[in-house]
Amino acid sequence: MCREARRRRVTFAIRPLGDADADAAVALWHEVGLTRPWNDPHADFARALATWPELLLGAFADEAADGEVLVGTVLGGYDGHRGWVYYLASAPSHRGAGIGRALMAEIERRLEAQGCPKLQLMVRSDNTSVLAFYDHLGYAVNEVAVLGKRLIAD
Ligand SMILES: CC(C)(COP(=O)(O)OP(=O)(O)OC[C@H]1O[C@@H](n2cnc3c(N)ncnc32)[C@H](O)[C@@H]1OP(=O)(O)O)[C@@H](O)C(=O)NCCC(=O)NCCS
Repeated sequence: MCREARRRRVTFAIRPLGDADADAAVALWHEVGLTRPWNDPHADFARALATWPELLLGAFADEAADGEVLVGTVLGGYDGHRGWVYYLASAPSHRGAGIGRALMAEIERRLEAQGCPKLQLMVRSDNTSVLAFYDHLGYAVNEVAVLGKRLIAD
C-alpha cells in the first residue's frame, strides 16, 4: 500500500516488519515515549513477530539521502474475540502526514479480514493528547477497569 499524504507531502509504504527492522522499531518507540522500564521492547517485538507477523506493521518513507526509513509502527493481535492494537507510533519528524491514520486503517483492514468483529486498545492515562487522536478516528472510551497480571518478567 502506498499513500500520498494530504497536508505534509510524505510518500510512505506500509508493510509487515521483520527481524531486520527490530532495532529501528525499538529506537522509534524510545523516541516517542512508548517504552517502559518493566517492558523489554526487543522482547515485545520478537514475541509479536512470532505470534502475528502479518499484524506487526511499519510505515517506511523514502528519504532521498538515507533511502528507506522506518517512520511509523503499529502492532496488532486477535484473541478470537477482540482485536488489540499496541505500539502505534509515527516519528516526530513525520507527524501530521497521515501516517498514524494510515497505520490504523491498515491494521483495521487486516483484522477485519480475519473476521475480527471489534477492536480495542489501551492508552496510558497520562497520554491525553492521543485520546483526542483516537476520538478523531472514531474510537470511544469504554468505562471499564483494565486488570493486569505479569506472567513472565522481562
Ligand atoms: C498518535 C500518533 C501516532 C499520530 O500520528 P500522526 O502520524 O501525526 O497522525 P496523522 O497525521 O495520521 O493524523 C490523523 C488525523 O488525526 C489528527 N490528529 C493527529 N494527532 C492528533 C491529536 N493529538 N489530537 C487530535 N487529532 C489529532 C490529524 O489532524 C489527522 O486528521 P485528518 O486525517 O482528519 O486530517 C502520534 O502522535 C504518535 O506517535 N504519538 C506518540 C506515540 C503514542 O502515544 N501512541 C499511542 C499509543 S496508545
